[in-house]
Amino acid sequence: MIQDIDIKDLKRITELIHLKHGYDFRNYAMSSFKRRMLRILEVGGLTIDSLLEKLTEEKVFIDDFLDELTVNVTEMFRDPGFWRILREEIIPGILLNNKQFKIWHAGCSSGEEVLSMNILLKEMGIKDQVKIYATDLDQTILEKARAANYSLKNMETNEKNYIRFQGKGTLKDYYTEVGGKAVMNKELLSNVSFQKHDLVLSSSFGKFDMILCRNVMIYFNQALQNEVVKKFHTDLNKYGYLAIGAKESMIWCDYASRFIVVNQEEKVYKKIRD
Ligand SMILES: C[S@@+](CC[C@H](N)C(=O)[O-])C[C@H]1O[C@@H](n2cnc3c(N)ncnc32)[C@H](O)[C@@H]1O
Repeated sequence: MIQDIDIKDLKRITELIHLKHGYDFRNYAMSSFKRRMLRILEVGGLTIDSLLEKLTEEKVFIDDFLDELTVNVTEMFRDPGFWRILREEIIPGILLNNKQFKIWHAGCSSGEEVLSMNILLKEMGIKDQVKIYATDLDQTILEKARAANYSLKNMETNEKNYIRFQGKGTLKDYYTEVGGKAVMNKELLSNVSFQKHDLVLSSSFGKFDMILCRNVMIYFNQALQNEVVKKFHTDLNKYGYLAIGAKESMIWCDYASRFIVVNQEEKVYKKIRD
């Protein structure tokens, strides 16, 4: 079993992925990237050389590899206080000037965040006024997001979060139990467009009134976070909102001064100048 990987080998892997498959992990935070690589090697019973060979020879391997490499942990109504602020302050603020608006979930993982947003919007009676774009680098996880079926075990955590969010009903109002799974009501995704999108390589994605990129940039190094925040700045309408994860920060980003802090604890920012 491989106990460690040195920087030289990590570089060989990231260079090959970049060259052969066009994904750029060279500016991901080294410690978590290394942990994930070690896990991939261990679970697959691979050496560095056999991994490099698979990445070179087996075309279909890359999708599974990306799914293992990226951290997809997510929950509905994760950090319930954040969702309460959206309902009570942020969204009413957007509605003052826009009857219809657009939200981008960048790094949406298996879709729980998107469903939380639509449950919130539905309870506010404005779901049909909002168009949602939900993107991720990982094709496998996007398929799970489109399917919107979750284990009942995960629904217990989701329900606890929903109760702390103080939703209008119960989460059970939004799904049916089928074959031991929670199948979310399809209508909840009627205003959502799921697309594969790479935050590192892609340029502008559109113009939005709110971008959620929570618990994604935490896996990037500071230089890459800086670049991605610049892209979000371009992709936000003036006075649009950017939400990052509660444990994340953008104080070192060049464009931080073009935003004001709306909520420090929940890391919500508002673009105030171009
Ligand atoms: C931990 S999940 C966050 C999910 C959700 N936003 C939340 O806070 O619960 C991080 C997601 O970011 C995605 N991701 C990582 N690198 C990315 C990139 N370069 N472009 C787009 N998505 C990326 C991963 O595939 C993963 O699904």
